[in-house]
Amino acid sequence: MDILSTFSRDKSKLVAILQEYQRELGYLPEEIILKVADYLGMSPSTVYSIATFYPRFKFVPSGKKVICACRGTACHVRGGGRVLREIEKKLGIKAGETTPDMEYTLETVSCMGACVLAPAVMVDDEIHGQMTPQKVAEVFSDE
Ligand code: FES
Repeated sequence: MDILSTFSRDKSKLVAILQEYQRELGYLPEEIILKVADYLGMSPSTVYSIATFYPRFKFVPSGKKVICACRGTACHVRGGGRVLREIEKKLGIKAGETTPDMEYTLETVSCMGACVLAPAVMVDDEIHGQMTPQKVAEVFSDE
């Protein structure tokens, strides 16, 4: 069943509809933005600008695993920058990029609410604390 058919043509449903597509596809391709805009009688640019307001919506596909390195102050002062550089070296990509084989996406966040574990890195939903450049290899060997 198509996602749109489960929603009324009510503009207030926009975010809920986008969430459903994000959950199913992992991101919001342009054709989905156009389709939702048409369904709700909104301009695609309005739908896109509302969607970009929410950090949880992605507009390009992510890798199978999402690695998130913290760039917050607590993590930074405890060596988070070195950990991030080691992950970038290990994956051969920079923060914000996805490996060409679509295995990993590397993101950063300004705090993941785990400052006591600084520096922290999240692999999908699992937090790895007290990270060091040496521990990066261990985290990836578990994958
Ligand atoms: S600053 Fe890194 S978890 Fe808070």
